[in-house]
Amino acid sequence: MSTTFTRYTVTAALPYANGPKHIGHLAGAYIPSDVYVRYLRLTGKDVIFVCGSDEHGTAIPNQALKENTTSKAIIDKYDALIRDCFNKLGMSFDIYHRTSEPIHHQTSQEFFLALYNKGLLTEEVSEQYFDTEANVFLADRYIVGTCPRCGNTNAYGDQCENCGSTLSPRELINPRSTLSGKTPVLRETKHWYLPLERYEPWLRDWILKSHQQDWKPNVYGQCKSWIEAGLQPRAMTRDLDWGIKVPLPDAEGKVLYVWFDAPVGYISATRALFEEVTSGNLKFATPRSDLSKAKKEDWKKYWQAEDTRLIHFIGKDNIVFHCIIFPVMLHTSGEFIVPDNVPANEFMNLEGDKMSTSRGWSIEMHEYLDDFPDKPDVLRYALLTNLPEAKDSEFTWKDFQAKNNNELVAILGNFVNRAVVLTQKYFDNKVPSQKVLTEVDKKALEELELYPSKIASSIEAFRFREATANLMDLARVGNKYLAETEPWKLAKTDMDRVGTILNIALQIAASLAIVTEPFLPFTSRKLKNMLGVSDLAWSDAGNGALLKAGAALNEAPLLFEKIEDERIEIQIKKLIDKKRAVEVAQQPAEPAKAEISFDDFSKMDIRIGKILKAERVEKSKKLLKLQVDTGIDVRTVMSGIAEHFAPEVVIGKQVTILVNLAPRKIMGVESQGMILMAADKDGSLKMLSPSGEVVPGSQVS
Ligand code: 2FM
Ligand code: ZN
Repeated sequence: MSTTFTRYTVTAALPYANGPKHIGHLAGAYIPSDVYVRYLRLTGKDVIFVCGSDEHGTAIPNQALKENTTSKAIIDKYDALIRDCFNKLGMSFDIYHRTSEPIHHQTSQEFFLALYNKGLLTEEVSEQYFDTEANVFLADRYIVGTCPRCGNTNAYGDQCENCGSTLSPRELINPRSTLSGKTPVLRETKHWYLPLERYEPWLRDWILKSHQQDWKPNVYGQCKSWIEAGLQPRAMTRDLDWGIKVPLPDAEGKVLYVWFDAPVGYISATRALFEEVTSGNLKFATPRSDLSKAKKEDWKKYWQAEDTRLIHFIGKDNIVFHCIIFPVMLHTSGEFIVPDNVPANEFMNLEGDKMSTSRGWSIEMHEYLDDFPDKPDVLRYALLTNLPEAKDSEFTWKDFQAKNNNELVAILGNFVNRAVVLTQKYFDNKVPSQKVLTEVDKKALEELELYPSKIASSIEAFRFREATANLMDLARVGNKYLAETEPWKLAKTDMDRVGTILNIALQIAASLAIVTEPFLPFTSRKLKNMLGVSDLAWSDAGNGALLKAGAALNEAPLLFEKIEDERIEIQIKKLIDKKRAVEVAQQPAEPAKAEISFDDFSKMDIRIGKILKAERVEKSKKLLKLQVDTGIDVRTVMSGIAEHFAPEVVIGKQVTILVNLAPRKIMGVESQGMILMAADKDGSLKMLSPSGEVVPGSQVS
């Protein structure tokens, strides 16, 4: 069944506000969705583009625990960071909302109640782990224990990070609560379930029959295997104190499952968009689409009218939620349309390994922007040419550099620059007129005419890699044309011919200014400024007479600049260092040594001493020879700290010293005691100095 759509609702997955997001996320959902929407707008379509922060689920309190702060502080911090990065990368959302906003809580609760009141949710009592000391049911991530598969003693209730197995809390051997360290007990708890199995016939019909042709094979294939494996009821509520309260009287301490509320977030963001636009109070909305005549209730058209085309852009880990669970919620409510397509991407790897923020093997959006603040389009381009559309792809810094230097600079930038600079030189920066057209001119104009629809068909089929390649091919057409016609050689003999050639080159540049808009919005703007054009539509592209003869051009800054090897090497080193730092930080502490008695302990005489002198020891890299005032005497101590402290730095420092250690000769010098140090995980040493100055000889006990 094919529907004629008159408007579009395009969503991009709401990122969890539990940490920064990396360039793999950009390649998965964000850059493709932005290209698509920008293209739709250029073709004059009625489209809204919604996104926002996903601020619920256990991921948030987990992060709060790690950062020793509150869940609220976490969402505020990461919402601001992600929002800022999206902005700087040119993401053109009409609204970037937050699921912590009241309108979202209200919309989610209404949605839940609508299903509940129609009897579409089932109630089930099950046993779950409960921490009697913290007095809470434990989410999977709050339970650790021994992995039944590999024996890792720190496996989580949902996954073992050592062997990668997916687990359920009850499979863990010797489970313990991360909140109290105690063994949790099983306790009964009631939850509300969406009986997915009832919708199997509908899903078969809707996805397997109707979308076999138009959904991407990776998406269709995943749906098919889910449906064929047999669908199970899915709990839509959780025992948790962070989230949206379950709006029922007997649901104390329960919140909506994050995968219930997050996709409803698309709807509440749309409601918020229309409220903000109609009230004029723009808090989260930055409407790019023309909504000037909108009414507050118009959000409904974008979610309920059959002639609206709903499209979800996501990464592959979100397929089941957007193709099965959320559509079942939408469908069974009876009020909403379901997605017409879910063009999910696979994952982008990084320099030969999986991208992962927690393992430190990632390029976070803000890290890129800090180092390349003036190059959002270079990243967009490097990602677009390498999108994981059909299978996982790989980002490397060398490829990034090559895409910039060999394509953006050498092809697109070079073409535009030659056309504009020659116009400055020979025609006082005004568009020359076309005179007699030769075969080569006609061929260039014919090719120009074909490209916009080529690029458009690729975009419409969600083949953004191909579309980007076509775009660069149009710049190649321009370069080839200039190389063939060599206008710089004709200036002395045939200015009419030079004018004709440059006119055609500038027409190609003008079309490039339009067709680059979805992909490279910052470059497109620069190019439009250069050519003195604005407000062009997609349908203007391909027109060989878009620029009028005599029209003045503006200043022509370079569109792109070469990236030198050094900058790339710095990035590769940064990546390796970051991973190493994370590994070091994650190493578990050494296990405790064998037990000793108090008597054993009290045999040690530990004092605070003051270093009076320090000098290096000949032929030793490690040793410093110290003179230490122990309060009892001034003595010589040979200390293995020379690689960590320069002699002049330690002089005058108060340190902790074991004074009754039997003296021993080191490099021919008698050492009378031992300076105590803390060895950090990365191997660095830190002195143990008292928090305030004390009299040398003070005892440590
Ligand atoms: O995977 C994620 O990052 C989720 N926060 C995506 C949610 S998409 C939508 F349902 F909100
Ligand atoms: Zn394991």
